[in-house]
Amino acid sequence: MNSFENKVILITGGTAGIGLATAIEFAKKDGRVLLVGRNVDKGSKAIAQMPHNANCEFYSADMSKRSDIKRLFSYIKEHYGRLDIAVNNAGMFGASFTKITEYPDEVWDEVIATNVTGVYQCMKYEIQLMEQSGGAIVNVASVSGLKANYAGGCAYTASKHAVVGLTKSAALEMAKSNIRVNSVCPGLIRTDMSVSVFGENLDAYGDTHPIGRIGEVEEVANAIVWLSSNKAEFITGCCLPVDGGLMVK
Ligand SMILES: NC(=O)c1ccc[n+]([C@@H]2O[C@H](COP(=O)([O-])OP(=O)(O)OC[C@H]3O[C@@H](n4cnc5c(N)ncnc54)[C@H](O)[C@@H]3O)[C@@H](O)[C@H]2O)c1
Repeated sequence: MNSFENKVILITGGTAGIGLATAIEFAKKDGRVLLVGRNVDKGSKAIAQMPHNANCEFYSADMSKRSDIKRLFSYIKEHYGRLDIAVNNAGMFGASFTKITEYPDEVWDEVIATNVTGVYQCMKYEIQLMEQSGGAIVNVASVSGLKANYAGGCAYTASKHAVVGLTKSAALEMAKSNIRVNSVCPGLIRTDMSVSVFGENLDAYGDTHPIGRIGEVEEVANAIVWLSSNKAEFITGCCLPVDGGLMVK
């Protein structure tokens, strides 16, 4: 796959899981990677895991807060002066296996603020920065953006459907402006988030995926890197399942 030398790459929620694996893949291909997360200690640990000599920086900001998002993009404009690739990955699950009638409103608000409004706000600034030279945006949605994958996750399912809608809407708007907008829709992937929701024995869910196992972060990272690359130049508005065949069922 092509090199990302001199490309400025933003990854939100980049200090763990899918975001960190994606950052590592871009760094291996010589990208200039800006990782965003809320926790400075986690940020330092993430930077320590990057390949030797990686051109990589951590920036602390909360993607559920408009003021933090505004501050982040002022920083990118001032310090990098451009943005080539953005991976809107920060996300939260919310309450697990809770009926809509019992779903806590404050959790609903938090999930929508992070997974929907955060992505929408980021895309607004990302597109403005990309308008001059073009770029690629990849939103991390979920199979829960394509179907109600389990009962009791109304906020998460609604939020990821919104990410899919935002992806398609922006792709259509930007199609003639050399800005491609795609999303990945992972099935169950081994991360801290999925352990916190489904428990330590994630492999027990392998059989729900036709391939017979759950996914690993590198498998999602590879799809994100490919969608961002010029190998995918004719692809926009795509919501790519990375799910071991889950969406086929
Ligand atoms: N793990 C899965 O099975 C799975 C499946 C489908 C989609 N996803 C999506 O993938 C993305 C990454 O999830 P993951 O599984 O790697 O989880 P993770 O918890 O390992 O990593 C998520 C990262 O996002 C950060 N984050 C969360 N809220 C944030 C905020 N408000 N501001 C800044 N950073 C924030 C977290 O601190 C963490 O570093 C999420 O959008 C998630 O919905 C995950």
